[in-house]
Amino acid sequence: MLRFTARNYARIAAAALTRRVPVYAHFGITHRCNLTCKMCGIWRYGNEKEELSADQLKLMAGRMARLGVVQLSIGGGEPFASARLEDACSAFLAEGLNLRVLTNGIGEGNGRNVVRSSAYLDRVDRVIDLGVKSFSVSLDSLYPKRFDYICEIDGAWDEAVRTMTHMAGRLAGRPGALPTINCVVSNLNLEELPDMVRFAEQIGFAVSFLPIELLPDPKAGQRNWEARFIRYRPELGLNIEDAADAVHRRVDAAYDALIEMKAAGKPILNSTPYLEASRRYLKTGQFPAEGCDAGRLYFSVAPNGQFTICHRTEQQHLDFLDPNFEAYFHSAEYEQARLIEAGGCEGCMRACWIDTSSMFRTMEGFFETAKLTLRPPRTGHPATFAEASQLARRDEVDLPAELIEAAAG
Ligand SMILES: C[S@@+](CC[C@H](N)C(=O)[O-])C[C@H]1O[C@@H](n2cnc3c(N)ncnc32)[C@H](O)[C@@H]1O
Ligand code: SF4
Ligand code: SF4
Repeated sequence: MLRFTARNYARIAAAALTRRVPVYAHFGITHRCNLTCKMCGIWRYGNEKEELSADQLKLMAGRMARLGVVQLSIGGGEPFASARLEDACSAFLAEGLNLRVLTNGIGEGNGRNVVRSSAYLDRVDRVIDLGVKSFSVSLDSLYPKRFDYICEIDGAWDEAVRTMTHMAGRLAGRPGALPTINCVVSNLNLEELPDMVRFAEQIGFAVSFLPIELLPDPKAGQRNWEARFIRYRPELGLNIEDAADAVHRRVDAAYDALIEMKAAGKPILNSTPYLEASRRYLKTGQFPAEGCDAGRLYFSVAPNGQFTICHRTEQQHLDFLDPNFEAYFHSAEYEQARLIEAGGCEGCMRACWIDTSSMFRTMEGFFETAKLTLRPPRTGHPATFAEASQLARRDEVDLPAELIEAAAG
């Protein structure tokens, strides 16, 4: 949740008036990762040598604050794969930014199995002690077997949930703390979404849903920046061409339930307009038609300091650490390039971007966000791992046949 200092109020008010203050930013601190999840290809681009030094991180933090950033997500890759995560958190917190760290919740793996180690949780504790109050932890299924299949490692579900319960316990009672499950919606979990909301609530978390993006064919990865990071995995997608009616019924049932739960105050972080846009996307493959404020209300910075208007585009803008960057960001030259880039984009379903736009473009989006910020959703009391583990669906003896075939193929 946002820390509402006078400075943050002023920035949000200016963003609402001008839509030209980048109140939200994403920093992928590293592309390295300890997992190789089925739908994700970011880990293939990890390169420690290109990553920023502690001094460069401080420079970046000061620049973000001067540009007006209020909320920063630190993602990756896996942020905990970077030994500089703590340096980054210290630098950004010192500049008064609200931080959210996106993590897979899994410390170590040996390729096939998760290796339990206290070193990872010690680092989580250090990051919390520095002042980080918001984490997003990925969890895509309540069936441990399915989630382990997605993450390509045995023991992933148990370890991610162990981390979640640890975080919820540490953060309980801290004003502004909002640990959240990041759940990627796919063919594999469409029927589980309402139960995922209940699970989140029962363990003291909120939840955010993001429809899966997949490559349409194995070679489509050259198309754009983001397409290098997503993969061709038809078994995880919804087959909207061959089975439209059946898919529409499944999607409608899932999203009707989510929208109803959201209206009833359940801890779902996505806005209602975003949930409706997700429903449309999953049924038709169409992205939201509204314009996009990438590069104006938000931006993204890659592990090497490359500035992009959002997660997907790769226009060559000035490097974020270039001494002239701030003047460039406010220049007509940049605004023109940004307009061409965002205007020519086919769209996307990233909640962080769409919900930031929605907040400043629609009254419904603005009031929902304001409500969420001033009165965070009710989550349950933190659960112990033993309690959370009871809620797992361990009744699935085998994965569905089509997944076993796909895994073998
Ligand atoms: C790229 S990860 C980075 C942070 C961290 N490694 C994690 O997994 O939470 C951020 C989010 O992107 C999601 N993601 C990865 N590949 C995706 C895809 N093809 N479509 C939609 N979301 C995806 C992940 O599940 C995760 O919730
Ligand atoms: S989704 Fe996150 S954990 Fe999984 S491979 Fe991608 S970066 Fe790593
Ligand atoms: S719609 Fe296009 S320009 Fe806008 S955030 Fe998504 S990928 Fe970026």
